[in-house]
Amino acid sequence: MNPNKALWEKGDFTRIAMAMRDSGEELVESLGVKPGLDVLDLGCGDGTTALPAAKRGANVLGVDIAENLVAAGNARATAAGLDNLRFQEGDASNLQDLADDSFDLVVSMFGAMFAPRPHDVAKEMMRVTRRGGRAVMGNWIPGDPTLIAQVLKTSAAYTPPPPEGFISPVTWGVEDNVRERFGAAGVPAENIVCERATYVFRAPMPPRELLQNFIGYYGPTMNAFEAAAKDGRAGQLEAELTELFVTHNRAGADDTEIPATYLKITVTKP
Ligand SMILES: C[S@@+](CC[C@H](N)C(=O)[O-])C[C@H]1O[C@@H](n2cnc3c(N)ncnc32)[C@H](O)[C@@H]1O
Repeated sequence: MNPNKALWEKGDFTRIAMAMRDSGEELVESLGVKPGLDVLDLGCGDGTTALPAAKRGANVLGVDIAENLVAAGNARATAAGLDNLRFQEGDASNLQDLADDSFDLVVSMFGAMFAPRPHDVAKEMMRVTRRGGRAVMGNWIPGDPTLIAQVLKTSAAYTPPPPEGFISPVTWGVEDNVRERFGAAGVPAENIVCERATYVFRAPMPPRELLQNFIGYYGPTMNAFEAAAKDGRAGQLEAELTELFVTHNRAGADDTEIPATYLKITVTKP
């Protein structure tokens, strides 16, 4: 079994994505998605950005490595009556089913960053983008003090070391790496813009309850808990994460509103 696929199918990212809908909408709005635009959402999950793009009239394909999330995305498309939106399985490192120069916009919010072989990811993203089209990536930043960077850091600290040669997903949150990877895919430096931006995690539940969704359904945190439980440290891990969620919450006690900083990358295909 592909460990990258297994990681995401183990959980159920829909339980986290429900807290990301507002920021997904705002991002798509900011990208000026219009009717007729051909959009690929890579590592799309259940369609947090794919769905609003389709609602604006774009022709949208969501590609994700996890079968359960592809099914969830297709169910959401059907429920919303959107026949310009479909989801299929695929790997951001090898988009073998997709033709060259097929999309005006390739979006990957916290998706392709989790694929293996980052240079192949950059190459594939550029291959399927049309000349003059854009690829937009959102990537969590290593060492950043906000929510998800810290969840990933804390989770990694409790998880056994990855196999040799594994490249951490958060290396995609470092501007030099981004420039080097897209540079190797043939993109000149002036076509790459990196900026810091914010996603807000919002949920009608206390932050401790949202944390339970991460513990039960977010692959990287699930693995950390499994490993921590084996050496009697699950309580310690839960206490660390509770502190993080509670102190970062800027809503009242019954609701969650936690901002998380990411690196937003916009690459224009030459
Ligand atoms: C943190 S979730 C983000 C989902 C979605 N973009 C969103 O904003 O809600 C990461 C997603 O990337 C997908 N993913 C991980 N590795 C992938 C790969 N190699 N190719 C395609 N998708 C991948 C996961 O299955 C998961 O849906």
